[in-house]
Amino acid sequence: MNTISTAILPSQISAANDARTKVMDSSERDFAGTLGDISCPSPRMQCRGVDVWYADKQAINNVSLDIGRNEVVAMIGPSGCGKSTFLRCLNRMNDSIPIARVTGSITIDGQEILAKHIDVVPLRARVGMVFQKPNPFPKSIYENIAYGPRIHGLTSSRAELDELVETSLRKAGLWEEVKDRLDQPGTGLSGGQQQRLCIARTIAVSPEVILMDEPCSALDPIATAKVEELIDELRANYSIAIVTHSMQQAARVSQRTAYFHLGDLIEVGTTEQIFNQPQHRLTEDYITGRFG
Ligand SMILES: Nc1ncnc2c1ncn2[C@@H]1O[C@H](COP(=O)(O)OP(=O)(O)OP(=O)(O)O)[C@@H](O)[C@H]1O
Ligand SMILES: [Mg+2]
Repeated sequence: MNTISTAILPSQISAANDARTKVMDSSERDFAGTLGDISCPSPRMQCRGVDVWYADKQAINNVSLDIGRNEVVAMIGPSGCGKSTFLRCLNRMNDSIPIARVTGSITIDGQEILAKHIDVVPLRARVGMVFQKPNPFPKSIYENIAYGPRIHGLTSSRAELDELVETSLRKAGLWEEVKDRLDQPGTGLSGGQQQRLCIARTIAVSPEVILMDEPCSALDPIATAKVEELIDELRANYSIAIVTHSMQQAARVSQRTAYFHLGDLIEVGTTEQIFNQPQHRLTEDYITGRFG
């Protein structure tokens, strides 16, 4: 049975409510906290009281959520509700937006990542990201994979690097398709292959968490099926947070689902519960197609 999250302090809620009046209409002001259990038994990352501002506009309001080991968490919600903004908090990608300000606490294996002194380069190797549009480097297939391990000093010989390139491509289910043309440009692959190349590139630097922002939205159904299959396999070794507009995709690939609305995390639960027995009217409206 779901309970109102106890991880959010009343003072945080009132602070968030004050801020929320700036961007929400009156019907949303009585939001009292996320429904469902924001925590999980074996958390890899823990977000607590996360707020994000773009200049004076608040885009994320007091969001608390765990990302577990070996699980896929789907983040769903209408356009503009803050899914990408929240995902970008998890590896400090919002740092590259000058007007963005992130507060609250986000830890990976207990270590705070929002602290100013944190070096984002190794953080982004630990928490990798795959974007909506496949974005291979303008380099060969081999170099797309080898680049990260090389700059992070993960291998000590060419033979080791060759092996890492092969294993990464194998894990991304791409090896058989590209093994005979590793020296050809990554941009010459099909869209679905490029997206798996980007996943292989992320895996090559041994991340703990993989963030995916609508990774299949530019792919056809066959390529989408391959990437979804891959996500399911990757779960054995990584934590995955995926933003998707496809309810079917969320239902197929994730174990937990988080529903966002106007910057609030409205509800989180097992994917089965969210889709079959949503507790909040807004979640129900969204998943039944009445909204968004
Ligand atoms: N770089 C930015 N500068 C200013 N405002 C931004 C920026 N990026 C996002 N926003 C604002 O923050 C809010 C959340 O945007 P975000 O892109 O996170 O939503 P989203 O849920 O990912 O939407 P979509 O489903 O359309 O991708 C929106 O109001 C958006 O206009
Ligand atoms: Mg987005």
